[in-house]
Amino acid sequence: MTEKRHNDAFSSNFGMIAAAIGSAIGLGNLWRFPYLVGQNGGAAFIIVYLIITLIISTPILLAESVIGRRGGGSPAEAYINVSGRKAWGGAGIMGMITCFMIMSFYVVVGGWTIKYLILSVAGQFHRGAIIDSPTMFEGFMTSTTAPIIYSWLFIALTIVIIILGVQKGIEKTSKLMMPMLFVLIILIGIRSVTLPGAKAGIDYLFKPDFSSLNFESLLAALGQSFFSLSLGACMLITYGAYTPKSSNLTKNAAIISVSDTFFAVMAGCAIMPAVFAFGVNPTQGAGLVFVTLPQIFTQMPLGGVCSVLFFFTLFLAAVSSAVSLFEVITSSIMSLGKKSRSSAALIVALVLVMTGSLCSLSQGVLRGVTIHGMNIFDQFDYVSANFLMTTGGLLTVLCVGWRMGKEQFVDEITSGGTINLPPALASVLFFIIKYVAPIVIVATAISIIF
Ligand code: PHE
Repeated sequence: MTEKRHNDAFSSNFGMIAAAIGSAIGLGNLWRFPYLVGQNGGAAFIIVYLIITLIISTPILLAESVIGRRGGGSPAEAYINVSGRKAWGGAGIMGMITCFMIMSFYVVVGGWTIKYLILSVAGQFHRGAIIDSPTMFEGFMTSTTAPIIYSWLFIALTIVIIILGVQKGIEKTSKLMMPMLFVLIILIGIRSVTLPGAKAGIDYLFKPDFSSLNFESLLAALGQSFFSLSLGACMLITYGAYTPKSSNLTKNAAIISVSDTFFAVMAGCAIMPAVFAFGVNPTQGAGLVFVTLPQIFTQMPLGGVCSVLFFFTLFLAAVSSAVSLFEVITSSIMSLGKKSRSSAALIVALVLVMTGSLCSLSQGVLRGVTIHGMNIFDQFDYVSANFLMTTGGLLTVLCVGWRMGKEQFVDEITSGGTINLPPALASVLFFIIKYVAPIVIVATAISIIF
């Protein structure tokens, strides 16, 4: 077994939960979820999303933390340790690459968030302000230097937290940011659902129309569930390695999953009622948050305050998720390249400055560079959420279900028999991990290919 790094560990179980929820709640909830709901027919999509999250994603979340805590070290080391085979290290490396891809477009959106937070603090979106938000957003995101500089600022903020380390950086900031996120989203939700005309938005979120569902939306729901819970990118393997031995992993997985889903639905409640109240098209896509919402803020009572609260929430959510993406890559480079934390983090930052800039430019001057009709930014988003993360999730369940086996799995989730867990629950979870999850992932993938 590879030696574990004891100085890299959460000081408490709450610290672990806060960090994992911080990772899960991110642009995925506030930016991706609402526009996917909009594009895939509202409530029907949410129902499919909830079922997938409960039956498939939560057990995978547990499987990841089992690999992380049992194996220890970086994701590649953890995979090798629990499987007993060197080849499985490849799954950890793939996780690192997935995080790189996600991080490359994530820092760009993180940069946009900083820009919009500054604009709202400067009072640009107060009630009665005259703005042309599509032109404003288009003009900004397609320009060459400004969005790149903002993405660098975002990278710099994240790197400071990473260099401070697991306890002083990740854990401390997560414990502070996570409760703030919940308070903020509830406040914004209350404002939105009390707007005149908000009911149409609430109906859209909660009254299903199953005719709008197809296989493409099934893949989108699976991909979104993985993306939102940070699955298949080795996040929970990395954080699992920092988790106290006494922690109840099953309970943790349930808390993380419920919190993230609650937040996503709250984000829907914060955005959709406002969208409908002002008669805006909900299928707007990725621009929903940056184009539609600013327009709405300028028309609603307390719009200026809400804009600051909203973009601050988006910013906190983005930073806490970016920290976890950064940590997966940093921990991998620390162990693969035998580097110190700060030099590993600097290497990651340097590469990201380049790949992030590429994603940013692909919205403007490099717009013509497309793969299968998508620019680099969209391609990174699509490939990482719909293919890499699902493949990563598949490898996780295959490793636990078929390499590790039930005995070791149960030993880990009961912390060596010290935690009381109904044997039937453990059996159901293992059954899902061994059979159901792999079949669903492979079947979805096949249905898309043919
Ligand atoms: N879960 C994050 C979000 O919803 C994204 C993420 C994916 C973070 C993978 C870490 C790892 O925005």
